[in-house]
Amino acid sequence: MQIGIDQLAFYTPSTYLDLVDLAHARGEEPDKYRIGIGQYEQAVIPVTQDAVTLAANAAAKVVDETNRDQIAMVLFGTESGIDNSKSAAVYLKRLLNLPDNIRAIELKQACYGATAGVQFAHDYVFLHPDKQVLVIGADIARYGLNTPGEVTQGGGAVALTISAEPKLLNLDNETAFKSEDIMDFWRPLYRTEALVDGRFSENVYIDFFKTVWQDYQQQTNRTIADFTAFAFHLPFTKMGLKALRAILPEASEAQQKQLMANFEASRQYNQRVGNLYTGSLYLSLRSLFDNASLKPGERIGLFSYGSGAEGEFFSGTISEQFDVQVSRDEFANFFKNRQRLNMPEYERLFSQQLPAHDVLLDLSHDDARFVLTGIKHDQRQYLDRQQA
Ligand code: CAA
Repeated sequence: MQIGIDQLAFYTPSTYLDLVDLAHARGEEPDKYRIGIGQYEQAVIPVTQDAVTLAANAAAKVVDETNRDQIAMVLFGTESGIDNSKSAAVYLKRLLNLPDNIRAIELKQACYGATAGVQFAHDYVFLHPDKQVLVIGADIARYGLNTPGEVTQGGGAVALTISAEPKLLNLDNETAFKSEDIMDFWRPLYRTEALVDGRFSENVYIDFFKTVWQDYQQQTNRTIADFTAFAFHLPFTKMGLKALRAILPEASEAQQKQLMANFEASRQYNQRVGNLYTGSLYLSLRSLFDNASLKPGERIGLFSYGSGAEGEFFSGTISEQFDVQVSRDEFANFFKNRQRLNMPEYERLFSQQLPAHDVLLDLSHDDARFVLTGIKHDQRQYLDRQQA
């Protein structure tokens, strides 16, 4: 029996910032952002979207009447939680009209949370092959205006269904992981923006990647020659390029060309959305699926990294039923119809924060199906416009 990723959908709002505009405003060379960092555009998230609504807008694309009753768990990876106690998964479960006899849990370890969900889901479906697990990675990446991290902001959500006989990727059982208490990136409870030791975080990412890659090879006797492509957690896409370059000399010249071409395919969407923390690896995988020419049976390597820190290298093979045309069209359409913000509009949207008291939000600039309408009696109020 094969177990893996059956569906993989993405949502982010249509408002975005062109990073050439940001470079001009911050007195930087546009090439520093486009080549040095590897980012072109950045999703800007309005105050009427939070981790729950981003997730609901993505998950509505993978949950319908055909699989709603099969879903046994919602595993919600996020580091943009909306409550210190109640999980975002429980709100999502209600918004999606999922049945009551399910588990709905939030998972946190920085950008690694969704991968924990994928691995727990894999093991659950192994024991319950007639069930599916809905895994979410939903975040808003914020460093602050005029900070070095500003160019690596972004946000959005991925929603994956993990099932037996999946249509996209059959996950291999072998996986290599590592955790260590490190202060490279963190966000204390009282802060809305992350704290980061930028260069150090890049070095830890590469060290973790090399360690788990070695461990994986020892466990499996596979080498780089067994892989058609790699997908990485992409806080900014140059980070993945640095990781790939760290192992590229292990490949033949011809394979190096193929791996580099597939890396370009894997970063197209991320270059235009920015960091989405937990969802970043899976947006990159979606980008790889849609923009490379992959064939059934080909093996993909995945590196997940969550600061603080946890790293995991795992793999999967392309499913026999692999078909990406619908997703390709959806992304092309989305990018074509986005709304470009100028700098003052971006700074205004970015600076709007939810107050710590009751509020009714202006929804006129948010056309999403699921929106946050405000706060009442310290409770976030959500609206599904299709039910309204
Ligand atoms: N043309 C081309 N390249 C240029 C250039 C130009 N005109 N000007 C500069 N560059 C290059 C630099 O040479 C440098 O390249 P290398 O990294 O290959 O050396 C690159 O552009 C960046 O330049 P700087 O190092 O000067 O950039 P910076 O000091 O402004 O900060 C950063 C860059 C550290 C990534 C910062 O944006 C940051 O802190 N980001 C957030 C932290 C982060 O994402 N860390 C990743 C690992 S942690 C993680 O993965 C978890 C997570 O999601 C956060």
